[in-house]
Amino acid sequence: MLKTLSTPAEWQHINRTNKMKNKTIGFVPTMGALHKGHLSLVERCLKENDITIVSIFVNPLQFGQNEDLDAYPRTIEEDKQKLIEAGVDAVFMPSVRDMYPRGLDHQTFVEVPDISNILCGASRPGHFRGVATVVSKLFNMVHPDDAFFGEKDFQQLQVIRLMAQDLSTGIVIHGVETERDATGLALSSRNGYLSAEQKHTAASIYKQMHIAKARILDGERDFITVANDLAD
Ligand code: PAF
Repeated sequence: MLKTLSTPAEWQHINRTNKMKNKTIGFVPTMGALHKGHLSLVERCLKENDITIVSIFVNPLQFGQNEDLDAYPRTIEEDKQKLIEAGVDAVFMPSVRDMYPRGLDHQTFVEVPDISNILCGASRPGHFRGVATVVSKLFNMVHPDDAFFGEKDFQQLQVIRLMAQDLSTGIVIHGVETERDATGLALSSRNGYLSAEQKHTAASIYKQMHIAKARILDGERDFITVANDLAD
């Protein structure tokens, strides 16, 4: 049966009992609005651990000032139903106050240098610091043996791997392959923001990258030509 927990203390009791019984704890952190991509992480976690806990927390610390914190989809009841059907043991849904009791401006941060400031991090200052901070806090609250993240957010996965290693958490970080729809578009809670045309464009980027990959694996070494052909 799915247990709903809103404070770390509620989990600590269950966790202690499970650890005493030598049960492994697997953890899937999410921001909710669960789709098949999240459920594939849950499925892996269930398969590889005795107990599976999923967190749902829309983390304000990883949203920039002009980003979609208020509009981010929140579908708690549907999410819980999906977790019940999947056979998850517990869902942890802390409040912003519980996570950041001294306020966002006074929070101790976890920052993974270098990698956090390139690629997506270059246009989203503070984003990966927010991710690394909340995931560290969640790890400290949940004390899992294993944690599961999607390869869809590839840079995030690398940031979390480094953070877990640098802070000697001992937690095994698993990357799980991206789930896609029939057009090749990666499943994402934010896909609802895309128009039909934008979805078509996003799916065609994936197809074009596959074509480029096949050409390079076939021996093509003129990367400029490969890139130019894609642009056509
Ligand atoms: O990928 C996400 O949903 C979030 O960035 C995460 C890892 C749950 C941290 O808030």
